[in-house]
Amino acid sequence: MNIVIISGSHRQNSQSLKVSNWLAEHLKTKSAKSEIIDLSGNPIPFWSEEAWNAESDLAKEMSPYLEKIEKADGLILVSPEWHGMVPSGLKNFLLYVSSQHAAHNPSLLVGVSASRGGTYPIAELRMSGYKNNRMVYIPDHLIVSNCENVMNDPALDSGEKADQYIKNRADYSLNVLLAYAKALKTMRDEHDLLSSDYPFGM
Ligand SMILES: Cc1cc2nc3c(=O)[nH]c(=O)nc-3n(C[C@H](O)[C@H](O)[C@H](O)COP(=O)(O)O)c2cc1C
Repeated sequence: MNIVIISGSHRQNSQSLKVSNWLAEHLKTKSAKSEIIDLSGNPIPFWSEEAWNAESDLAKEMSPYLEKIEKADGLILVSPEWHGMVPSGLKNFLLYVSSQHAAHNPSLLVGVSASRGGTYPIAELRMSGYKNNRMVYIPDHLIVSNCENVMNDPALDSGEKADQYIKNRADYSLNVLLAYAKALKTMRDEHDLLSSDYPFGM
């Protein structure tokens, strides 16, 4: 299985990247490959209509990122909570992702907060970001609160109770994601679900 993790923080050395790295390392214990698309430093230009022209510089610049999404068996969207929102860089990235890249591909949502937050980005993503690209947000998500104090080492049984809890919960959520990835790959292979009559969701 090949999982692509999108770390949605604009900040260098962000906690979202730390959590993304933890998940990537842990996926290795499940014999799954992963790759992180790190949005630190805003590497992705703001979406513009040029993106619709395959010959444009913008489309060519985005193509390596979108190829990674297209080849993935599953996705993980890691979003910090910023002013109770998903950062604009992650929403901007999602503007480029179409159903050709991500339709019926399972996606685990992860909210990250330095305090007790992390729920708002999950709620925001659950009502947006999937309509046209048809990625499938799986029912389980992760909320990494007090992020600085957790997921700082790979062992599931080390650290404080809260640390152990979120690491074990992450382990479980990755199992669920990989099960969906396996099942939905079969579904995508067996059914032609991309309809030119209905390229966008309602
Ligand atoms: C612009 C900005 C707004 C933030 N707003 C919130 C917030 O609304 N709720 C919250 O729990 N944390 C908030 N934080 C703190 C983040 O939870 C903290 O930076 C955490 O490490 C996750 O972000 P990171 O992945 O960029 O490190 C905010 C941080 C920034 C930079």
